[in-house]
Amino acid sequence: MGRIRPIKSTDVESVVGIESQCFPTPWDRSIFEAISQWRGNIPLKHKRIIRMRVLEFKEQVEGYIVWEEDKITENGHVMNLAVSNAHRGKGWGEKLLRYAIELMRDHEMKLCFLEVRENNTTAQALYKKIGMVKSDVRVGYYESEDAYIYTLDL
Ligand SMILES: CC(C)(COP(=O)(O)OP(=O)(O)OC[C@H]1O[C@@H](n2cnc3c(N)ncnc32)[C@H](O)[C@@H]1OP(=O)(O)O)[C@@H](O)C(=O)NCCC(=O)NCCS
Repeated sequence: MGRIRPIKSTDVESVVGIESQCFPTPWDRSIFEAISQWRGNIPLKHKRIIRMRVLEFKEQVEGYIVWEEDKITENGHVMNLAVSNAHRGKGWGEKLLRYAIELMRDHEMKLCFLEVRENNTTAQALYKKIGMVKSDVRVGYYESEDAYIYTLDL
């Protein structure tokens, strides 16, 4: 059914492959390399930390989630979430998101939020399913497209 664990350096190739399948403006490989060098937990200035977990199935990475926890604002920010084309619709995106939210709660975050393209109805259906609410719009966030902000009180 797939196991969730921190990213390691040998995962970067698979992650970059999924990233380019999923997004018109994929994150650069160097970002995933940096996170993997920190074994999925990069401490930043001002009590912030970036975390990344991958979902492994049959020894292949098939999905991942990246988020930031900010100890000052007590916000958890989901920055990236993706599942490979071949394994969509099996509950893995939901599993990754619920996993990150549980860790945010453990780390005493009070709110989880994320941005999503206004036309990404698939992802929005997932966010609504887990109880997130559309709470704001960022006009032009993705150049030609607006972002909706979804939030969840933790
Ligand atoms: C969004 C994404 C991560 C969802 O992952 P997934 O593993 O396919 O989704 P799940 O199987 O966990 O689905 C969970 C819920 O999401 C919704 N959902 C998922 N796929 C859907 C689809 N094609 N149409 C409508 N709703 C859908 C449903 O509510 C579903 O619950 P249900 O199965 O009980 O109906 C995946 O589609 C993806 O990687 N998309 C490209 C990248 C992306 O858009 N990331 C989000 C950026 S904000």
